[in-house]
Amino acid sequence: MVIIIVGGQWGDEGKGKVIDYLSEQAHLVIRPQGGNNAGHTVITEHGEFKFQLLPSGILYPQVTCVIGNGVVVDPRVVLKEIEQLRERGLEPHNLVISERAHMVMSYHPIFDRLEEGVRGDDRLGTTWRGVGPAYGDKVRRIGFRIGDLQKEVFMRKKIDFVVGQVKNPILDKLYGEPQLDTEAILQEYLGYARELDPYIKDTFPLIQSALDRSDNVLLEGAQATMLDLDFGTYPYVTGSNPTAGGACTGSGIPPTRVDLTLGCLKAYTTRVGYGPFPTELEGAIGDQIRERGHEFGTVTGRARRVGWFDACVARYAVRVNGAASIALLKLDILDELDRIKVCSSYEFRGETHRHPMANISHLKHCEPQYVEVPGWEADIGSARRWEDLPRACRDYIELIESEVGAPVDLIGVGPRRDQFVERRNPWTRAKAA
Ligand code: IMP
Repeated sequence: MVIIIVGGQWGDEGKGKVIDYLSEQAHLVIRPQGGNNAGHTVITEHGEFKFQLLPSGILYPQVTCVIGNGVVVDPRVVLKEIEQLRERGLEPHNLVISERAHMVMSYHPIFDRLEEGVRGDDRLGTTWRGVGPAYGDKVRRIGFRIGDLQKEVFMRKKIDFVVGQVKNPILDKLYGEPQLDTEAILQEYLGYARELDPYIKDTFPLIQSALDRSDNVLLEGAQATMLDLDFGTYPYVTGSNPTAGGACTGSGIPPTRVDLTLGCLKAYTTRVGYGPFPTELEGAIGDQIRERGHEFGTVTGRARRVGWFDACVARYAVRVNGAASIALLKLDILDELDRIKVCSSYEFRGETHRHPMANISHLKHCEPQYVEVPGWEADIGSARRWEDLPRACRDYIELIESEVGAPVDLIGVGPRRDQFVERRNPWTRAKAA
């Protein structure tokens, strides 16, 4: 069985918790895209773990965890995360890094900041991790792949060219910044080469064998549909395709082998960084949700923008990804509200829109049309079955199902691993598909 996990909003839906939950029955977990701009939090009996690059399944020793070809890997971060595990007595024997994955080089975060700086008021609000510049270099064919670490002569020649002929002239002439030292970069990366060597592999045979055996494979998407380079609110997007199609190209899993795409949706909406956000809440309710939901970035610590559930966004995500199942997360954060709103369409220049428009100026100026429902005003943290949820809470979930056009199979009712109401197990749904 192959399940793709995708974010259906602007990220931070709680995908890490879903992946952790499903990983127990997985043989293989693959990160197909993104870099250390992502942050997945997993809470287990060993405590809280924050992963930016390691697949969340890493805590299950029986699960092989792959950093796929579509990821951009900052070696410094992956080594720090390996260290974090070792400090708690866990050894990542189960980690594999695709030799085709590209690297975030030490100069990419520098360029990320410089490019954001010159944008001024039009800056994107990136995470400054160098992810966009690394993907840019991949497309320009001047990127470094993880496999390059194993080729010292090639690395030297390529660093001389890329840093000496491309990066340094830009730093000097465009930004008036100091030059990068090619030898120091080479030595730094040869150091990473030694430490990462045991994990670097061609993942093609490994993934094909898993498919041949019909193993349970989980594709762990980072970021989300509205941050997709093509389908998101361009240019306020990330550098990769966090949609289902991107999960296939970022891993080498053929689209024809995917059994289920599971869309993750938060019971309200959040966004980090700039760009249009039609249902954004400014004021007391927004602050209350932000505080209760701990809506501060895992990576940058920035306060997340908060808003009502936007069914136009979620409906669009369900269709772009072909999601046949939904995990609805952080529903407990709404426990104290007496009224809750869901945006079911947008009005713009006298027309009704049921999906986000490609023109982000239209999206910025549209009027969200809301359905208002009563809250449940009860603590749902101990609910484990559908029947345990208050009537108003079930009504809210059913409203979301009918608005987005897909069934809600998993409901997150708290931060812990066990705090789920499972209406249908995604592996069972995948099997039946
Ligand atoms: P970048 O991915 O660092 O280039 O940032 C581009 C945009 O994507 C910014 O608005 C970021 O805040 C946003 N972004 C990137 N990764 C994540 C994520 O994992 N969760 C939420 N937003 C993200």
